[in-house]
Amino acid sequence: ISLKPYNTFGIDVKARNFVEVTSVEELREVLKNTYASELFILGGGSNMLLTKDVQKTVVYINLKGIEILEENKNDVLVKAMAGENWHEFVLYCIDHSFGGLENLSLIPGKVGTAPIQNIGAYGVELKDSFESCTALDIQTLQLKTFTKEECHFGYRDSIFKNEAKGKYIITSVSFRLSKNNHKLNTTYGSIDQFLEDKGVKTPTIANVSEAVISIRQSKLPNPKELGNSGSFFKNPVVSKEVLQKLQQQYPEIPFYEVDGQQVKIPAGWLIDHAGLKGYREGDAGVHTRQALVLVNYGNATGLDILQLAEKIQQKILDMFGIEISPEVNII
Ligand code: EPU
Repeated sequence: ISLKPYNTFGIDVKARNFVEVTSVEELREVLKNTYASELFILGGGSNMLLTKDVQKTVVYINLKGIEILEENKNDVLVKAMAGENWHEFVLYCIDHSFGGLENLSLIPGKVGTAPIQNIGAYGVELKDSFESCTALDIQTLQLKTFTKEECHFGYRDSIFKNEAKGKYIITSVSFRLSKNNHKLNTTYGSIDQFLEDKGVKTPTIANVSEAVISIRQSKLPNPKELGNSGSFFKNPVVSKEVLQKLQQQYPEIPFYEVDGQQVKIPAGWLIDHAGLKGYREGDAGVHTRQALVLVNYGNATGLDILQLAEKIQQKILDMFGIEISPEVNII
């Protein structure tokens, strides 16, 4: 079958086999009958670039359900199954006045894949309200719980991209969310500005979500209309010395503090200032409103997108001496 409907880049490659699982038991059955090396686990398909047919058994994780595990006066522990759509889960939390995920509104993908890259936006990361996740061990078929500490979360990073890669399938994720006295995070980007323009004086989590949705819609292409995988590259982390050298030539270069020695530079700014925003080769292009996002105008192949990405990386290296690396998984 074609994987086109299952990846947000809209790349048309084929899978040798395709099975959808809706329960942990079904998942165990599939794993019993398939060699680990023959498995290809698919969640939301929102963070991958498929460059060739998948000669494996694609297992589409479609476990559903949201459950409140614990609740007291101040907070709540909510568990969502891996196949729940991320944004719908965020909206469920907002409807129930559970605070903590509102800045992560409208991120494409599913709950189960969110911890892998510790999704983040507008000053908040998944790890800030993550409590634990359960994952099926592909070898033993046993469920294992990973605490926050065990996940080794970093910037767009976790144990599931490193030591645990290919060994587990996340089946559910639990979040510790606030029921009142929500700690709102409105200082990043233009959230405060948006709220002010709307005349909102004491914002609620719903107001923050609305702001994030509106800002995202103004910059980021909707994958249903224009194939993409969000930020294609990670923002490079460089030393302050490197930053100072760059500032001599580009005094306006934006940056975020990482720690005393290092800063993160927006790759979108570098690509934009290399003159590549809106650049297009056939159906592969750099988005016109956010240079960090590569888009498929219709019939680009994974290799078309990859070629464009490599061209961008080379240009950034030549111009700024900085290596940028993909955030999406290239397959
Ligand atoms: N910029 C430009 N030109 C561009 C794009 C950005 O000059 O075409 C400059 C902006 O002016 C701004 C800076 O770069 O000063 C940062 O831009 P933005 O706020 O859009 O954020 P970003 O660093 O490009 C990151 C995340 C996004 C997330 C936003 C908001 C990464 C790789 N990306 O982007 O995450 O939504 O911050 O928090 O960290 C994703 O991971 O898929 C994703 C979309």
